[in-house]
Amino acid sequence: MIAADTSYANGAVLPQGDSPELVLVPATPSERIESIRLNSKAWSGPLDLQTYIERENHLHQQRLTKGCFTCWILVDRREPEEYRTILGSCETYKKKAMLAHGGQVEDVSTHGVGSVYCRPEFRGKGYAKRMLEELSKKIDAWKMETETRKCSLFTILFSDIGKEFYAQFGWKPYTSSHFALPPIRDEAYASATTKANLPKTRTLSANDVQDSMCSETVLQKERDLLATASEKSPGPKIAIAPNFEHFEWHWAREEFYAERIFSDRELPVAKGAGEDNTGVYCAWNRNFGETPEENTLYILRWVYDEPTSPEQSEAIVKAMAAVLRRAQLEAHRWNMAKVEFWNPTPLLEKAVALLDPMAEVVHREKDSIACLRWIGAEHGLGEEVEWYLNEKYAWC
Ligand SMILES: CC(C)(COP(=O)(O)OP(=O)(O)OC[C@H]1O[C@@H](n2cnc3c(N)ncnc32)[C@H](O)[C@@H]1OP(=O)(O)O)[C@@H](O)C(=O)NCCC(=O)NCCS
Repeated sequence: MIAADTSYANGAVLPQGDSPELVLVPATPSERIESIRLNSKAWSGPLDLQTYIERENHLHQQRLTKGCFTCWILVDRREPEEYRTILGSCETYKKKAMLAHGGQVEDVSTHGVGSVYCRPEFRGKGYAKRMLEELSKKIDAWKMETETRKCSLFTILFSDIGKEFYAQFGWKPYTSSHFALPPIRDEAYASATTKANLPKTRTLSANDVQDSMCSETVLQKERDLLATASEKSPGPKIAIAPNFEHFEWHWAREEFYAERIFSDRELPVAKGAGEDNTGVYCAWNRNFGETPEENTLYILRWVYDEPTSPEQSEAIVKAMAAVLRRAQLEAHRWNMAKVEFWNPTPLLEKAVALLDPMAEVVHREKDSIACLRWIGAEHGLGEEVEWYLNEKYAWC
């Protein structure tokens, strides 16, 4: 079906979103670059086009994404490869995940969906809808021959356009809340930590994060927690595996910007903070936005043991507060407008209350809405799934 009233740059007529001629296909390398060029209008931020393409290529080479990444384009099947008009584009990343049900945990694979884009002049014609319909079919049929489970039972994305659009295709919104704390200067940091009698923290290098937050022991602990949770309450539980590759990817992104924006400064080496006595650790990254107000130090993930006594609980909350203060100081040093961390647990809520009794959890309605599409019901695993470790590290 051809829309009679629509023509675009080269005079050809645009197909309708429901045309049987539309197909979703993997982009060729040059079509991928073209789709990056198109979406630069929305996402290049402070980078010029060439640097934005370099950033994308750089991220593409990281261990998290290398060989696990597909750029998809919606095109008219009648157009020849390399000359196809890109009607819409998106990306998928294969990721490691954990799935718990009935007290057992499986290491599985999932796909993250990102960069859903349609150029402004083609919007409102149903291309994005068609692309997601086609993508869900592709994902459902995606055979993973080397895996124990031959298909992904779930996929995730982070919507910047609210909770409804992706829900039509099965990506349901999950809890998407955060705390935002202001940066603090060195003097204020020193007096605030002394006054509140907070424990000493240490900053973590990339290697420290690997040792204290991503070791096989820590990952196994998360598997065990999922297994226990799935024994205690019915219904499957999933988590994106919080492996070191995620942190490397986020740091590759921050270093790419830092190198260009602060060319006279050393690259940021403090990648998180921790308190060894209680075993409270966090990893962060600096996110450089289009304007200084958008600059955010994101806490990507927290690691700590659940307390078994009120005294332990108090010590952990104080350690979390101390680590948060250190993050606020780091934000100041790197010109970040705020520190943000997602989906705080009750202990983290208490830690924030120690620092600022007036601080409130923000429930996002539009940006970075964590969404999950589950097809486990078709595999006898129940209608609903719980998402554990729903923290910023899983975003990409
Ligand atoms: C979002 C986007 C991909 C939609 O593309 P599109 O081809 O115009 O979408 P379709 O024509 O298939 O569907 C239109 C529907 O999209 C939804 N939509 C589009 N933009 C939206 C926005 N900013 N907020 C909420 N919903 C939006 C609406 O539900 C709209 O429905 P309506 O027709 O009932 O109003 C496109 O606007 C875009 O590229 N925006 C900039 C990049 C972006 O924000 N991508 C999403 C990242 S999560």
